[in-house]
Amino acid sequence: MKTKFQISPVPTLLLIAAFGFFSCNKSDFGHVPPGPGDLSTLPGKTSLNLPKLDPALVEQGKQIFRYETFGDETFWTDQLQMNQVIQTAVSPNTALAVGLKVDAAALPAAVVDAIKRGAVDLNDPQTTLVLLQNNAVVGVKGQVSKNADGSLKLDRVGITCALCHSTVDNSFAKGIGNRLDAWPNRDLNPGLIISLSPALDAATKATYASWGPGFYDPRFNHDGLSDPTVIPPAYGLYGLPKSTFTGDGDIQHEPVGPVAYWNRYVAVTQMHGHGYFADPRLNNWVVDYRQGDDLVSDKLPALQAYEYSISAPTPPANSFDFASAARGKILFIGKGHCASCHSGPLFTDVIDGGKLHPQSASVALDKEYVNRTATKLWRVSPLRGIWQHPPYFHDGSAKTLDEVVSRYNQVNKLKLSASEMADLTEYLKSL
Ligand code: HEC
Ligand code: HEC
Repeated sequence: MKTKFQISPVPTLLLIAAFGFFSCNKSDFGHVPPGPGDLSTLPGKTSLNLPKLDPALVEQGKQIFRYETFGDETFWTDQLQMNQVIQTAVSPNTALAVGLKVDAAALPAAVVDAIKRGAVDLNDPQTTLVLLQNNAVVGVKGQVSKNADGSLKLDRVGITCALCHSTVDNSFAKGIGNRLDAWPNRDLNPGLIISLSPALDAATKATYASWGPGFYDPRFNHDGLSDPTVIPPAYGLYGLPKSTFTGDGDIQHEPVGPVAYWNRYVAVTQMHGHGYFADPRLNNWVVDYRQGDDLVSDKLPALQAYEYSISAPTPPANSFDFASAARGKILFIGKGHCASCHSGPLFTDVIDGGKLHPQSASVALDKEYVNRTATKLWRVSPLRGIWQHPPYFHDGSAKTLDEVVSRYNQVNKLKLSASEMADLTEYLKSL
């Protein structure tokens, strides 16, 4: 997509304004209004009165989120030569095995039929090129053409935000289904994929390959350290004045907004899109890949609006015990002291003027990551939709919500009984 969007300044200003004032009237999130028996509302401020997002801007942002490479083919093709890797070695089965997802809605009926009849060779990289030709590999954009003998070749390939921040509902088969935008792809092994590039030396390949599914280190190419985080959700962020685990993104460092700060960071410094990023807080890091054309900046308002339009998913029916969760809510506020940090409508105190916490506030096993970031502090993670994305904490060091609760119980010496821990876990499942 090469279109230069004409962004009206009005929604942008409204977004900016949203971070200046919050009031506590009715919910814009579509959640059940507070009332007796409502688990998901804590005492105090129950909702943020956020401006309505412009639907046209949101729709533009959806296209960008799913399909825009920002010109990053320059990196993924010209430098890493991933087009060669894919066309020679990545069959659909290999692609699914490294966690790539297939958008079933993008497949032509004939291809769907052929897959159902078993007439498609899922071990043949040529089939992957057919999928790419149909724009059906989530987060991967390829330009496919034909060799003289009629076989397909992959001329250019690039990646989009959807690679890491979308998955599918597996409605067709495992790894194949309808897109779930903004859900983190915790099956994806981005490090392993990058390690297949013939352009990297053995030591760099080994580092990338060591990260594992669901993890990525967005700072490795800056500071040379390898300490990946889980890929977080990109939903449920509207109203947070800071983005990322450490609150690096804020309006002071990116006028478009907190999420746009990080979107620029990733689009330029990680995806290698044609754009510009600079932050004096990161040892004056300046990355300029514009090559005469900034393909990032004018897309940020729409991209951010799309992310803000996606609320955290509500828990599936019957996925938790209501009575136990109701007891857990009392513990969350009381004996567990959880609500002292996970407060307000989004279960984080960052909405209180952008509050962040020192290194010791995290009960994750790794606490060093924070020192590599712009703030060197933690943002209290928002908890809505937490049921959806194990493992937990930035380092993925708690595999389940039970483990989260027992970690807090131990580290913070909460003296919760086994049944109290079970109730608190049920409560987390209900958010
Ligand atoms: C290779 C995988 C990868 C790609 C591609 C990627 N991200 Fe991320 N994203 C991450 C990781 C890992 C983090 C966590 C970094 C941190 O918090 O320190 C993250 C963090 C975020 C956050 C912060 C969420 C929060 O809780 O504040 C947002 C929003 C986001 N990404 C959106 C995007 C968008 C939009 C794009 C495309 C421009 C993108 N990401 C591309 C891996 C990726
Ligand atoms: C001192 C502030 C503080 C208190 C008290 C606190 N948390 Fe947290 N919580 C955080 C921070 C900071 C993070 C992010 C840490 C990280 O990822 O390393 C976090 C992360 C989490 C996560 C993981 C979120 C994710 O996206 O993976 C869960 C779940 C959670 N907390 C639940 C609780 C529960 C339950 C309690 C009470 C027993 C509690 N917290 C008490 C600050 C706090």
